[in-house]
Amino acid sequence: MNRRVAAAAALRQLGPRLFSTAAISRSAAGGTWEPTLGVSPLALSRFLSTAASIGGEGADERAGAIASASTKREEKALASYWGVAPPRLFKKDGTEWRWTCFKPWDTYSSNVSIDLHKHHVPTTWGDKCARWLVKSLRVPTDIFFQRRYGCRAMMLETVAAVPGMVGGMLLHLRSLRHFEHSGGWIRALLEEAENERMHLMTFMEVSQPRWYERALVFAVQGVFFNAYFAAYLLSPKLAHRMVGYLEEEAIHSYTEFLKDLEAGKIENVPAPAIAIDYWRLPADATLKDVVTVVRADEAHHRDVNHFASDIHYEGHALRELPAPVGYH
Ligand SMILES: [Fe+2]
Ligand SMILES: [Fe+2]
Repeated sequence: MNRRVAAAAALRQLGPRLFSTAAISRSAAGGTWEPTLGVSPLALSRFLSTAASIGGEGADERAGAIASASTKREEKALASYWGVAPPRLFKKDGTEWRWTCFKPWDTYSSNVSIDLHKHHVPTTWGDKCARWLVKSLRVPTDIFFQRRYGCRAMMLETVAAVPGMVGGMLLHLRSLRHFEHSGGWIRALLEEAENERMHLMTFMEVSQPRWYERALVFAVQGVFFNAYFAAYLLSPKLAHRMVGYLEEEAIHSYTEFLKDLEAGKIENVPAPAIAIDYWRLPADATLKDVVTVVRADEAHHRDVNHFASDIHYEGHALRELPAPVGYH
């Protein structure tokens, strides 16, 4: 089969997929959204490059015609060559879902009534060490950031998003090695990591890091990732306990942040759009509302990690007790 014939055959096969449209609707807890299959410029270029590689000049001409027609009908729904083009989603008010990093079904209303004062009293030497370590880490943080809570929150989230990923990754590898279920803990810990990363994506909108702060993040991540990795391998119960205390400190920091917002020391600016969509906040939400839901998230992380540590202390493996997946 020569190249032109191959290209024509490929296009005949792909045609229905490329030009078909589909629309479905679905109800999410936060409202109705409607995905329609669409093609992104990237997906189109991937199709074009693939078609060209299959068919040479003839395919180039056909692909060029497709590109031209598609540009004019930018809004027309198409499916990509690989079938991985994300669906176009629409919010209840008819506006298009603008976020690629999370979808409507990833959003939630935070339970802000969670007890913020719950505290694990350290009794064992391990608990005391974990608490002491977290408390001692707070000293340089306080000196460096003082009461610049926006910047402080953003920087601390770069650290807070590490433990869930490390723990989830190690449990994932253990599950593979031992041919065993995880009890949902892999997902729960990866959810925590993603949630913390969304905190970072949110605070990036209200505070931009300076060059030396970016450099600090590089250094801290390099040290903290490896230290936590080693700690989790050696003692997951202490690693989770440490994160539990870290979250208790985060609750304290966000409470101080809220005090400054209420006192007018920090301007209570409108909430970033990403936060409004992620936490399903009202359109007129402010930074104070965002900090309130983030603080509630930290309280949930505190509970999950102290719970995980307690499971180990009781002599069980995490997989023996179902993980609090979706605990917000
Ligand atoms: Fe966080
Ligand atoms: Fe957290």
